[in-house]
Amino acid sequence: MEIGPGTRAIVSGATRGIGRSTARSLAARGATVGLLARSTDELEALAAELPKAVALPADVADRDATQAAVSSFIDGAGGLELLVANAGVAHTGPFLELEPDQVDEMVQVNFVGTLNVVRLGLPAMLARGRGHVVVVSSGAALRSFPWTAVYGGTKAAQKGFAEALRHELSGSGVSLTTVYPGEVRTSLHAHERQKMPDWFRPGDAIPPEVVSEAIVDGVNRDRREVHVPGNVRLLGLNSLAPGLVDRLLTLLRGGGAAPRRY
Ligand SMILES: NC(=O)c1ccc[n+]([C@@H]2O[C@H](COP(=O)([O-])OP(=O)(O)OC[C@H]3O[C@@H](n4cnc5c(N)ncnc54)[C@H](OP(=O)(O)O)[C@@H]3O)[C@@H](O)[C@H]2O)c1
Repeated sequence: MEIGPGTRAIVSGATRGIGRSTARSLAARGATVGLLARSTDELEALAAELPKAVALPADVADRDATQAAVSSFIDGAGGLELLVANAGVAHTGPFLELEPDQVDEMVQVNFVGTLNVVRLGLPAMLARGRGHVVVVSSGAALRSFPWTAVYGGTKAAQKGFAEALRHELSGSGVSLTTVYPGEVRTSLHAHERQKMPDWFRPGDAIPPEVVSEAIVDGVNRDRREVHVPGNVRLLGLNSLAPGLVDRLLTLLRGGGAAPRRY
């Protein structure tokens, strides 16, 4: 599906990082954009900056609030062609040192929130036989790292959901792209910078604009998957040759990325 002035899109997690950049990339192609996130002031500020944008304050973990936000956009814009399920949170640390609330938040926002947004937006696209869903997962879905057991688990859950759904949508006129970003310069870890593990390399992070342009390209070309940067694809080798990937990551990220030797 070619993104253009006729595209009506909802982006979740639109106040910062990849979501905000995606909203800008879509707006630059003339799309009408529904900006969904919790921070009302930031939503209003971005909506005022973009030519055809509307603030949709909602918590994606709250099904009723998300339903109200998605419905109000579809009613107001007259339809929906593109849904970017991007909202996400991260809490990093040894599994048992995470607070139970942090664990629940990652599951609720990253996975259940994705299901909510897609489930509520998809029917409008299927009714018209036209549309595209984007699920923003992570390289951590392909190979999860120490201290990201729960975060990586939620990202892998998105991957499994999205893979099956793309096939289920075959012949419907609606398609789906799963996005696997590597490290991106956003506020995802802003609350925990001081306690990130030593394999974390913020200096290597790419700007969110690279991801949002890759998302636009992935939709325009109906890509099954988008790996950004491209070397994230190598993490997919983990399912075939985990020892090889451990060695590669040890070389690139140090021993903390793969402390076990077998
Ligand atoms: N940054 C990376 O290195 C990286 C790498 C791979 C994948 N990703 C994925 O990319 C996606 C975007 O992350 P980012 O890096 O852009 O992070 P970010 O800068 O922290 O932005 C996260 C966005 O999600 C929104 N959000 C968080 N909880 C929400 C909730 N309950 N309901 C609605 N919106 C919510 C936030 O807005 P409010 O706080 O206003 O609600 C914000 O707009 C995430 O799914 C993340 O897992 C990021």
